[in-house]
Amino acid sequence: TKTVTVPRLRARKGAEPIVCLTAYTTPMAKMLDPHADLLLVGDSLGMVLYGLPSTIGVTLDIMIAHGAAVVRGAHKALVVIDMPFGSYEESPEQAFRNAVRVLRETGAAAVKLEGGQVMAETISYLTRRGIPVMAHVGLLPQSVNVSGGYAALGTASTEGWDRIVEDAVAVDKAGAFLVVVEAVSEPLAVRITDSISIPTIGIGASAHCDGQVLVIDDMLGMSARTPKFVKRYAELGHAIDEAAARYAAEVRSRQFPSEEYTYKLKGDNRPAGGS
Ligand code: KIV
Ligand code: NA
Repeated sequence: TKTVTVPRLRARKGAEPIVCLTAYTTPMAKMLDPHADLLLVGDSLGMVLYGLPSTIGVTLDIMIAHGAAVVRGAHKALVVIDMPFGSYEESPEQAFRNAVRVLRETGAAAVKLEGGQVMAETISYLTRRGIPVMAHVGLLPQSVNVSGGYAALGTASTEGWDRIVEDAVAVDKAGAFLVVVEAVSEPLAVRITDSISIPTIGIGASAHCDGQVLVIDDMLGMSARTPKFVKRYAELGHAIDEAAARYAAEVRSRQFPSEEYTYKLKGDNRPAGGS
């Protein structure tokens, strides 16, 4: 039974901060579920798991496979699945058709898609037909070929702030239940959060948001390079490197596998290697 629901999360505006993390696999979902309100199957998996240069190459089938895996590991947290590039932008009908596939084939509760005013009609179309939508404004990774990079927004001046605030207002009005705000300056994040009725989930968007999200591999220290907004809560990359180095050395020196890790013929106490 899922104890976190869409209406309960939506009602957390200005209240207890909403804890989100990305998850892409069943074992990770199991480990994070007790701690998180929301597990996001982000299309960041394209870079994190598949070595792609951006999220552009991620397909609906990939999102569905990982989405189903995360749902199998999540018992309490709400699972939200990213609609990948090309699966929703064409029309509300295309978005609905593909979001139905995502929810049916994974068992997740909601989808996320990128875009503000331009996606308002689609968000409204999905929401009124039974599909909860988490929106995403500010830095939009799926638009990297238009924007030219991943630089934070609204840091040099207040230019461009209004458009981003209007994006957030538009997705709120359209019926989104949460909105990710990515890589914006703190004062802009404040304006966005104070301008809308739904919770903002920040990533690189200051402590003023109504919740926070981080990419799990980044916060566990498994990514080579992490942006300014990532706090590394563990150094699993180093731990894996050390473990692999020790394993390699022990295999080469025949220290591993020792007796303890070896199957014997029952009743046979002769040392191995002899005859
Ligand atoms: O794909 C992703 O992981 C995301 C979050 C970082 C918000 O969209
Ligand atoms: Na994403």
